[in-house]
Amino acid sequence: MTGDKIDISVTVNGRRYRRAVEPRRLLADFLRYDLRLTGTHVGCAHGVCGACTVSIDGRTARSCLTFAVQVDGAALETVEGLAPDEELSAIQAAFHRNHALQCGFCTPGFLMAARQLLAETLTPTEEEVRTALSGNLCRCTGYVNIVRAVMSAAEELRAEGEARHV
Ligand code: FES
Ligand code: FES
Repeated sequence: MTGDKIDISVTVNGRRYRRAVEPRRLLADFLRYDLRLTGTHVGCAHGVCGACTVSIDGRTARSCLTFAVQVDGAALETVEGLAPDEELSAIQAAFHRNHALQCGFCTPGFLMAARQLLAETLTPTEEEVRTALSGNLCRCTGYVNIVRAVMSAAEELRAEGEARHV
């Protein structure tokens, strides 16, 4: 404890961070303001839109509904972790290729949700893709190209085997 703050240690995209945070500090704010990882977006701030989706110990979660103190000791991944070498991951490239974004505000959340699905299966049906993305809202695209992009990424990853980063 530091004053009324609590010391936490987290790994984000493979890098370890130690910070003192107020108990009520939201994970989304911790990532954006304390760690400067602004790829995680906050849309609704109450668990509806999915823009704040991150991975916590391998499972997607709403960072706007999670307190930073809850992830003490956890391994997180954010959208910044999808392209560690500044080369687009397969799912990012598929979004680009299929025009699966317009304003891009929702895109980090969709990418993280899609990544979770493709980590579980590279042979999803269109219905499974729609279900996996059903917790994410987009006000621009109408979803068709997003679904197409995820199907395309799955196809590409199947063809490449495990060679490429999801
Ligand atoms: S900002 Fe977290 S669900 Fe909308
Ligand atoms: S691309 Fe604008 S909200 Fe999804």
